[in-house]
Amino acid sequence: MAGAGGERREASAVVIAPHLQIAIDGPAGSGKTTVAHALAQRLGILYLDTGAMYRAVASEVLAAGLDADNEAAVLRICAMHPIDVRLDANAPMGFRVFAGARELQSAMLQSNTVSAVVSTIAAHPHVREALVLEQRRIALCGPVVMAGRDIGSVVLPDAPVKIYLTATVEARVSRRRAQLLSAGVDVALHQLAREIEERDSLDENRAVSPLQIAPDAHVIDSSLLSVDEVVARITALAHHLAA
Ligand code: DC
Repeated sequence: MAGAGGERREASAVVIAPHLQIAIDGPAGSGKTTVAHALAQRLGILYLDTGAMYRAVASEVLAAGLDADNEAAVLRICAMHPIDVRLDANAPMGFRVFAGARELQSAMLQSNTVSAVVSTIAAHPHVREALVLEQRRIALCGPVVMAGRDIGSVVLPDAPVKIYLTATVEARVSRRRAQLLSAGVDVALHQLAREIEERDSLDENRAVSPLQIAPDAHVIDSSLLSVDEVVARITALAHHLAA
């Protein structure tokens, strides 16, 4: 998928309903966070990348030297340093993530060490419960584009617009590599392919809220589409479904 076409803030053709919710789910590297962010900017509404919240918990667990498999220990660290997402129009993604009073930097959240354990964290049912509550609270703040794995199926099951964004493994791997390179991290393609396939398998096969296509979701394959093309498709769907 080509670039997002800059920080364009176009007038939206969509009349924004006060409770418009656009749920975007999909596997790692499908482009959902880039698309969701660009879409939210285009529509002038809130954006939340829920993956950042699972990554925040993973980062806290690593910092405390805990075993990611131990749900009780993970929950204890969440209670000691609650994950808090603060909406902030001046932040690059429109929100900041805190653990207690401490802001977590996106370079840390996106790091390979965090990526390596985050699926284990996201498989814990009580961790999910706590984060889903927070995600629903944020959705009450206004019209929102929310990206994740279970947004259309669990977090916002009544969202009028549900998208399942997918792409070939090759396309997803090369996007992840470009993303890491731009952050100064060089990881071989074959290693990224293995990591992405492992993460897909964990996300699709976990017992609680696995990655799945909600029955009323619209599937978009972004392999050969630019960000602008995907955003235009979703905008048209939102116009059609939520007007
Ligand atoms: O989208 P991402 O790669 O930043 O997601 C990080 C991890 O969190 C990934 O393993 C999937 C999981 N996740 C989830 O289970 N549910 C969500 N709503 C968002 C992310």
